[in-house]
Amino acid sequence: MVKYVIEGGTPLHGTVSISGAKNAAVAILVGALLVDGVCCIENIPQISDVKIQLSIMETYGAKIRYMTPNTVEIDASGIRNTKTPYELMRRMRASYYHLGALLGRFGQAEVAMPGGCYLGVRPIDLHIKGFTAQGAKVDVTSGGFIRAEIPGGGRPHGASVYLDVASVGATINIMLSAVLADGQTVIENAAKEPHIVDLANFLNSMGGDVRGAGTDVIKIRGVERLRGGSYSIIPDQIEAGTYLAAVAAAGGELLIKNVIPKHLECITAKLEEIGVEIQEQDDAVLARRTGHLTRTNFKTAPYPGFPTDMQPQFAVALTLAEGISVVTEGIWDNRFKYLEEIKRLGARAQVNGKVAVIEGVEKLYGAPVRACDLRAGAAMVIAGLAAQGITEIEDVYHIERGYEDFVGKLQKVGAYIRRVEVPDQV
Ligand code: EPU
Repeated sequence: MVKYVIEGGTPLHGTVSISGAKNAAVAILVGALLVDGVCCIENIPQISDVKIQLSIMETYGAKIRYMTPNTVEIDASGIRNTKTPYELMRRMRASYYHLGALLGRFGQAEVAMPGGCYLGVRPIDLHIKGFTAQGAKVDVTSGGFIRAEIPGGGRPHGASVYLDVASVGATINIMLSAVLADGQTVIENAAKEPHIVDLANFLNSMGGDVRGAGTDVIKIRGVERLRGGSYSIIPDQIEAGTYLAAVAAAGGELLIKNVIPKHLECITAKLEEIGVEIQEQDDAVLARRTGHLTRTNFKTAPYPGFPTDMQPQFAVALTLAEGISVVTEGIWDNRFKYLEEIKRLGARAQVNGKVAVIEGVEKLYGAPVRACDLRAGAAMVIAGLAAQGITEIEDVYHIERGYEDFVGKLQKVGAYIRRVEVPDQV
């Protein structure tokens, strides 16, 4: 078992360089399955979700070659359409993108139901609605698999799909099944997150015809084939936001490099409100916190609203802000579990359904805690950095699904944090 040991209470000082975006990478890599040629993808984060995604692709016969630790060359021109392996699929959420990509390429796909962080019920009805509109018959088969097939063979056809909720996953999956379809697919009430735009840019750079990504309506005109090429993934908005929240909670000054400041505005605007000084530069953001934090309220919402994936990290900063803050989770039903763990460090919070009321305290004090999911784990690291004394975090594999070299990057900015391997208890 691996755990993180943090001796907190030291402000952070220095520069952090942000890696490629996890949620863009896990979609774009699967998008490479649609490419009839070699594509080279740069700025891939070294995280376990990416490794799993590439391992699944290898089971179809995709040829994967690491050119550098963050650049991978993929040749999926000769892949077979096989049932995707349950063991790998259940370990991550974005495994369901294989359904859209394989359906788009072969007119048929069978994949295991996805895993990932437990944040409440995570339905995929909108993905299925999209595939069905494109002519597929979709069934759940035995052993936890889901099968989509165009009856009589051939590729999906163009369709108009209205998403009842602006789902990131459904938008991406329907884009993947549509890019090689016969005719035009229109997604209405599409998600607008930066990684949706990044996937569209990737597909277009390979010869696809995707317009409107970043707005409510995305139009995908099917093309005969995608050719190879090179593409570089955008920086991770949430990784950058996590370091910004860390400097808010622990104090100090960080230059967060290799970011798109526009993507961070939904986060930096809130940080300024609670007393963090922010300076935007061309591809960097400088954040400084010297004084006290002040309370605020916030509600998570689809982009360009405040991201749900930043809710736990920002809420930890609010546990140290003067006054009472109200946090409303607008996307997931069950994303406050981590507050029980943070309370072990002395935080004061009460949760009622999708609302948490946080009463700021003067100080947090280190304690042993458990990461219950990816962003909750990041929030616990932030709490540990801000707390006096030692915090030990277990189940950090959740954190390593989505943050490249979290411990190393924090050590470089003065944090006392270690990654420790301890024998499993029997
Ligand atoms: N929804 C439906 N039906 C569907 C799909 C979604 O009702 O068919 C609902 C969900 O229940 C939820 C809302 O729509 O209430 C939004 O879900 P969405 O589909 O947008 O989420 P997702 O695609 O499963 C991605 C990220 C999550 C992030 C959400 C929201 C990936 C791999 N995951 O999930 O990221 O929280 O979008 O922005 O891109 C994380 O990185 O820690 C993470 C959990």
